[in-house]
Amino acid sequence: MPKLSIAVLASGRGSNFQVVIDGINSKEINGEIKVLITDNPEAVAIERAKKNKIPFEIINRKDFKTREEMDLKIKSILDKNKVDLIVLAGYMKIISSKELLTAYKYKIINIHPSLLPAFKGSMQAQVDAFEYGCKIAGLTIHFVTEDVDGGPIIFQKVVDISNCKSGEEAAAEILIHEHESYKKVIDSFSKGKYKIEGKRAIFVPY
Ligand code: GRF
Repeated sequence: MPKLSIAVLASGRGSNFQVVIDGINSKEINGEIKVLITDNPEAVAIERAKKNKIPFEIINRKDFKTREEMDLKIKSILDKNKVDLIVLAGYMKIISSKELLTAYKYKIINIHPSLLPAFKGSMQAQVDAFEYGCKIAGLTIHFVTEDVDGGPIIFQKVVDISNCKSGEEAAAEILIHEHESYKKVIDSFSKGKYKIEGKRAIFVPY
């Protein structure tokens, strides 16, 4: 089975990026990371890339007149690296370029720390779930489309947060499950394809 060529987009601490690195090293993910793209020159993810000799590109919004221009620069990096799968791992910008989204339709995935459509679009969905008084929360891995947090759902997992004492504790609990789930879902792309029927993503093994 050929290895997946992966690009990771991350803006911050990059714990999910680290999961991809570790998953490849432990052979739980049949892939290789071609490039890390970040919009944040201070991202901890950059340190992780350096440590693991992964090429990285900093694409800073302030260097571009429009978001479209920025997204097209990202597209050119993805094209150059011939990637099969683009993994958003705490990437804090909305990808809005139609050209980029069309060229990589159903090849961009994101992890959102809620059971979508609950807390769709929230930047702190775990805290929102805790403050709402939810007893269960969770995570959703979905395809990225122009509808923010609204693309076809690939995987969801329920996480019991009923014993958590704060939103931060709920986030930490959910993060553990994010890591194990993202690793499995990323690897699934080397084992089959997702057929999209309406809004449903159905896994078809090779
Ligand atoms: C994760 O909680 C992820 O669900 C959300 O942003 C956070 C990123 O964390 N999209 P990290 O940078 O991967 O540690």
